[in-house]
Amino acid sequence: MKVLIFKTAEEAKTHAARCLLKQVKQRPKSVLGLATGGTMEDVYAKLVSMTRKFSTKWSEVTTFNLDEYWGIPEDNPASYRTYMTHHLFSQIDINPERTYVPMSQGTDPGQAAAQFEAQILASGGIDLQLLGIGENGHIGFNEPTSSLASETRLKTLTESTRNANHRFFKTMDEVPRYALTVGIGTILKSAECLIVGTGSSKAAAVRSMIEGPVSAACPASALQMHKKVTVMLDEDAAQELE
Ligand code: F6R
Repeated sequence: MKVLIFKTAEEAKTHAARCLLKQVKQRPKSVLGLATGGTMEDVYAKLVSMTRKFSTKWSEVTTFNLDEYWGIPEDNPASYRTYMTHHLFSQIDINPERTYVPMSQGTDPGQAAAQFEAQILASGGIDLQLLGIGENGHIGFNEPTSSLASETRLKTLTESTRNANHRFFKTMDEVPRYALTVGIGTILKSAECLIVGTGSSKAAAVRSMIEGPVSAACPASALQMHKKVTVMLDEDAAQELE
């Protein structure tokens, strides 16, 4: 793991956006794995402004999002499809048909998950996977105790994750109980990963990810087994590192 510690969250997120832009410039047919969440809102805002500044073409890029709530319509204001359209897809010249987000509802989540996994394979696999980290060490919606070999599947969200995401819904009752998420095994198959963690609330999870044992208790620790990972932190998120 290459660990980069920046003074501020702003710098860490700017660096992440630069890495994504460089990837798209160098390989216009890149397959990107994308994340959502508060951290990524800023990363995408920076990526959009860099895209405009350097007139970067996204028309041949393919994207796969890590996760989506299960049980709400795709156009729900809190869905990850809506988030991606708002923060990134509508602001760049990406072909909407090349933007894959797991299905948000249907009768057979198992089939939807298998189809998503097959679509990643058919695209040739993820070249660069962008990740955030949860306070409990989750990546995507792979909560603690997720199998380190897991593929895309339906997961029950923990109460801590539902509470953390409450702010995107009107009431706690509306917060979905399930999500489809790419698995840890799927993430480990990507050619390269970038993971961004900022703020002191992430410090314990960051320490477990980098210095702890590889364990399902901290899903992000599985990244220790990946051959090309760059961790981008601010000083607050790095404060518990040895
Ligand atoms: C969502 C995802 C999650 C987030 C994580 C951190 O697609 O992949 O693992 O990256 O929950 O979220 P924030 O940035 O809101 O702290």
